[in-house]
Amino acid sequence: MLNFSFQNTTQIRFGEGQIASLSKQIPLDAKILVTYGGGSIKSNGVYDQVTAALTKHTWFEFSGIEPNPSYDTLMKAQSIIKENNIDFILAVGGGSVVDGSKFIAAAAFFEGDDPWDILAKQTRVKKALPLACVLTLPATGSESNTGAVVTRNGTKLPFNSPLVRPIFAVLDPAVTLSLSERQVGNGVVDAFVHTMEQYLTYSVNAKVQDRFAEGLLLTLIEEGPKALAPETSKDLAIRGNIMWAATMALNGLIGAGVPQDWATHMIGHELTGTHGIDHARTLSIVLPAVMKVCKEAKREKLLQYAERIWNVKEGDDDARIDRAIELTEQFFTTMQVPTRLSHVDLGAADIDVLIEKLTQHGMVKLGEHSTVTPDVSREILNAAL
Ligand code: NZQ
Ligand code: ZN
Repeated sequence: MLNFSFQNTTQIRFGEGQIASLSKQIPLDAKILVTYGGGSIKSNGVYDQVTAALTKHTWFEFSGIEPNPSYDTLMKAQSIIKENNIDFILAVGGGSVVDGSKFIAAAAFFEGDDPWDILAKQTRVKKALPLACVLTLPATGSESNTGAVVTRNGTKLPFNSPLVRPIFAVLDPAVTLSLSERQVGNGVVDAFVHTMEQYLTYSVNAKVQDRFAEGLLLTLIEEGPKALAPETSKDLAIRGNIMWAATMALNGLIGAGVPQDWATHMIGHELTGTHGIDHARTLSIVLPAVMKVCKEAKREKLLQYAERIWNVKEGDDDARIDRAIELTEQFFTTMQVPTRLSHVDLGAADIDVLIEKLTQHGMVKLGEHSTVTPDVSREILNAAL
C-alpha cells in the first residue's frame, strides 16, 4: 500500500437520545451559533431537542442554508458572528448545513479580500472557529471529515482543511426517520459512490482498506433497499447501519494508503452547478459511465468488485465486468435514482457546456492516473446519455 498518515479526531456520539449530550459537550461559556437549513429540524423535533440541551448555554441561530449551500447565503452569517462574538458553531442538518458551516467557520478568520479564494484559489485556511454537528442526513461523511463544497453563481467547488473537521458529531439514527424517500436514496448512493471513488482504482495490495470498503458496499446494498421498503423503512437498526456506513465511507479510513479517483464527483459537481441536480443523482448517472470508459485502467479492481460484491463468477473477464456494471445500475435504480442523463432530461447538446466548465475549473486531469482529460470526460458524459 502507499505511505500515509491517518488521523480522525471527530468524536462520534452515536445512538438514540444523544442530542441531549450537547449540554455537556459544548463548554458552558461558549457563545454558540446554531446553524441549520430550511426548517426540517423544526418539524421533526430536532430543533426542540437541541434547544432543550442548550438551555444553560448562550446561543444564537442562523438558518436558511440551502442544499448545495451558496456563498452568498453563508456570508450573511459573518455579521452575526462579529456582533455576538461567536466562538463555537453547531451545525444541525445534512451535508449542506455541515459544509456551509465549515465555510462560515473558515471565512470568519479569512485575511484576504474575498473568502471565496478558499475555494477558487484553494487559499489555505489558517484559522477557523471550532465546529461540531448534529447530523440529520447520512450521506456525505462531512460530519467527521475535513472537506466542504460551496456554490457561487453555478460554480460548485470543494475545499479541505483539518481546521474545519467537526470536534464531535451526534449521529442519532432516529432523526433520519423524517427523511423523504428521495433523500434516503440519495444518501445511500452518495455513501456508495464515496466508497467506490476510493476503492475502484488500481490495486496497491491494501487488503484492509479493500475489505473495509467492500464491507461498506455490501452493507449499503443490503440495508439501502430496506430503508425504502414500507415494512422496514422505520427500522432504526437499518437506519443506524446506513448512518454509520456513510460516516465510515468518507472519514479518511478507507482512503488512507490507496489511490483515489473522484472523477465521478468532479463531473457530478458540474451537473449540479449547471442544472441543479441533487448531488447523489449526478453520481448515479456518472459512475456507471466512468466504469465503462475507464474499464482498462480499472480492470483488476472491477474484476475484484464483480466477484466480491456481486458474486459474479461466470463468463470471461469482460462479461463479468459488464455484469457488475449492470448490477451497480440496478442497485441505483432500486434506490430510485437516475442512471442516465436522459433520465434528468439532458442530452448530447448539454455536454459542451459541462466540458467547458470542467476546463474553466481546472478539472482537466481527473482520476487516479490523472488521465481523465476534458476529452475523456466528454466520452464519459456521452456514455451516460
Ligand atoms: O434544509 P432542510 O430543511 O434541513 O432540508 C434538507 C434538505 O432539503 C433535508 N433534510 C436533511 N435532514 C432531514 C431533512 N429532511 C427531513 N428530515 C431530515 N432528518 O434534506 C435536503 C437535502 O439536504 P442536504 O444537506 O443538501 O443533503 P446532503 O446531506 O446529501 O448534502 C449534500 C451536499 O453535501 C456535499 C454535496 O456536494 C452537497 O452540496 N458533499 C459534501 C461532502 C463532504 N463535505 O465531504 C462530500 C460529498 O461528496 C458531497 O459533495
Ligand atoms: Zn458525494
